[in-house]
Amino acid sequence: MRIDILTLFPDIISSYLKESIIKRAIEKGLVEINIINIRDFSPFKSGQVDDTPYGGGSGMVLMCEPVFKAIDSVKTDNSKVIMMTPTGEKYNQSKAIDLTHEKHIILLCGHYEGFDERIKTKVDMEISIGDYVLTGGELASLVITDSVVRLLEGVITETSLDSESFTDGLLDYPVYTKPRVYEGLEVPEVLLSGNHKKIDEYRMNERIRITKEKRPDILK
Ligand code: ADE
Repeated sequence: MRIDILTLFPDIISSYLKESIIKRAIEKGLVEINIINIRDFSPFKSGQVDDTPYGGGSGMVLMCEPVFKAIDSVKTDNSKVIMMTPTGEKYNQSKAIDLTHEKHIILLCGHYEGFDERIKTKVDMEISIGDYVLTGGELASLVITDSVVRLLEGVITETSLDSESFTDGLLDYPVYTKPRVYEGLEVPEVLLSGNHKKIDEYRMNERIRITKEKRPDILK
């Protein structure tokens, strides 16, 4: 898979890609991620990419030209262009799974007051990562990149994806590690029993209990 992130703040993106699981996925060649600076496509010597809104109002609006040109510089017949915006479709795990089937994703990050509305003609999908407004789309593009890349084959052990939260309508079970007792807090006895049937049963019951308690809305 290839992911191209179009942004005015490339350093925000690059710092995240240099660590941990995403870094290893890139090194192993499981995903190619490119950062494209929208400012490089400004028609002005000054690098200007935004202007005041027609009709008045506060803030600055991202102009068509640099964004159209940035998209055209990477778009192919296999690309899905996704705009990061608080007014887009709400993102969730099932959308992340859908995106793993794409060959090439272009993530467009806005800033300031928003995008010139005509930019939407270049876009296949608008995504919001939640009902709140961020200062820009960079965090949203990283949320999408991270949640999609970790699902790609070979990035993390398949079995750890099986029972994770949101894949099958249940939240994940609780986990413990050494020591057995810490400040009087004990690991549940069943996990030390070596009885895998009992452990599986316990974990499934915990998943149901926790989902009922915390997220009854996702219970299937
Ligand atoms: N840009 C600003 N807020 C956003 C949000 N909630 N989701 C995606 N992009 C955004």
